[in-house]
Amino acid sequence: MNHSAAVKPDYGIDAPAVLRNLFLFGGLCLVLGIVLPPVLHLGPVKLITRPTFLWPAFFLLLEGCLYLLYVKVGKFHHRDFILSLHNWRGDEQILDVGCGRGLLLAGAAKRLNAGGHATGIDIWSAEDLSGNAEAATQQNLELEGVAARCTLVSQSAAEMPFPDASFDVVVSNLCLHNIYEKSARMAALGHIARVLRPGGVAVLSDYKKTGEYASELRRLGLQVEKKRKGMLTTFPPLVVVVAQKPL
Ligand SMILES: C[S@@+](CC[C@H](N)C(=O)[O-])C[C@H]1O[C@@H](n2cnc3c(N)ncnc32)[C@H](O)[C@@H]1O
Repeated sequence: MNHSAAVKPDYGIDAPAVLRNLFLFGGLCLVLGIVLPPVLHLGPVKLITRPTFLWPAFFLLLEGCLYLLYVKVGKFHHRDFILSLHNWRGDEQILDVGCGRGLLLAGAAKRLNAGGHATGIDIWSAEDLSGNAEAATQQNLELEGVAARCTLVSQSAAEMPFPDASFDVVVSNLCLHNIYEKSARMAALGHIARVLRPGGVAVLSDYKKTGEYASELRRLGLQVEKKRKGMLTTFPPLVVVVAQKPL
């Protein structure tokens, strides 16, 4: 990909293989439902082809369209919702866990003044986000005009190198479920609680495992509540865990 040719920030497609498979299998079911004869005899089995293929086609293609809507439109609204859950002063130290191509990172950095700073940590997995690379994120930050207020760190969230109590706000969207081993996810949550300042807040959004994040952060002494904005505005529906570290 030629990053120097981009003139607008590009935040990529989340889990691109999932989107491809929804359209691929949905399209295949649609074609089979249309071209096959209404009844197929496979040995002793009588297959009624229309409902067998057209219902899955409908659901797979609907999910594909909702997913595409999230990627192209919904994720910008969801970013604004996440960032609206904090009352911004402007001088905060921010951490975006699994920042990808900088969606939340750039959005948070735009709310900062000269005293604030935003740090993004990621392992740049292209399976989780198309075109994911530190250079692509750096370019988005430059195009958004916030590069001077941001730092990128290439490391796993399970091994965060930051000192204790060094961030006022930790944000994360669709990252933590990608850490498949439970012990590593717990380590990442432990680091999030550790690097937050007393009085600081973590806002963690994901489509699964949010119950686990909430109970682990509660166990670590944070005050936790869950929020969601409407099941149709994000697909898959995203839940936001808001965890405050006591003063
Ligand atoms: C679906 S993308 C979301 C990116 C960004 N938060 C957004 O909303 O656009 C998930 C991100 O989590 C990152 N990620 C996965 N495992 C990680 C880990 N162990 N540590 C840090 N980042 C990780 C991936 O590289 C990817 O950038």
